[in-house]
Amino acid sequence: MTGNTNDSSRNLTWHTMAITREMREAALHQKAVTIWLTGLSGSGKSTLANALEQKLASGGRHTMLLDGDNVRHGLNKDLGFSEHDRIENIRRIAEVCRLLNDAGIIVLASFISPFRKDREHAREIIGGSFIEVYVSTPLEECERRDVKGLYQAARNGEIAQFTGITSIYEAPTQPEVTIDTSSRSIADSTTELMSALETVLNGRSMG
Ligand code: ADX
Repeated sequence: MTGNTNDSSRNLTWHTMAITREMREAALHQKAVTIWLTGLSGSGKSTLANALEQKLASGGRHTMLLDGDNVRHGLNKDLGFSEHDRIENIRRIAEVCRLLNDAGIIVLASFISPFRKDREHAREIIGGSFIEVYVSTPLEECERRDVKGLYQAARNGEIAQFTGITSIYEAPTQPEVTIDTSSRSIADSTTELMSALETVLNGRSMG
């Protein structure tokens, strides 16, 4: 691994460390993956990620959940919702996922991540351990739920560039898993997601 090669890293050298990712994974008795949930605001990403993490943790897995609203309170608090800022939001998060995976941790990443190109970039950064989960709950249902009141505010013109209303969401074309939470309970959706992930992981011999 050589790191990136843009101008600012030109005079840097990548150090190879004695303790490898494989050793960290072995110590934790798991394969580190990033389960990346993408979908509209209110689609159920964070609720699903939270429920899934509880299942994984109670099964003895070592996990970390990264969530849009939370990460924007800290690491990415300097970023807004312009196209430029959303690109940078996803790039930083993908780098954090990779670091956590290198530490042997299973990451659940819950971000709207509306642009296909950025999710592909995240996949490149994270590599073979990236699993894309499309939470495909339709806009009408997300807007009906309007848990945070943001859709109403966006319709009233009080929030600019709101995903699904005044900013685009590009649905994944080939996600590893697709899940629609509109006609199922959280418990059922989580069980379905868990078994779909097992199929993906077994297919990659990473289970
Ligand atoms: S992303 O588009 O850059 O991936 P991210 O997942 O980090 O978004 O943050 C989305 C959360 O920010 C939403 O769940 C919502 O609570 C809040 N939010 C505030 N303004 C906007 C906006 N203009 N568009 C989308 N979400 C917004």
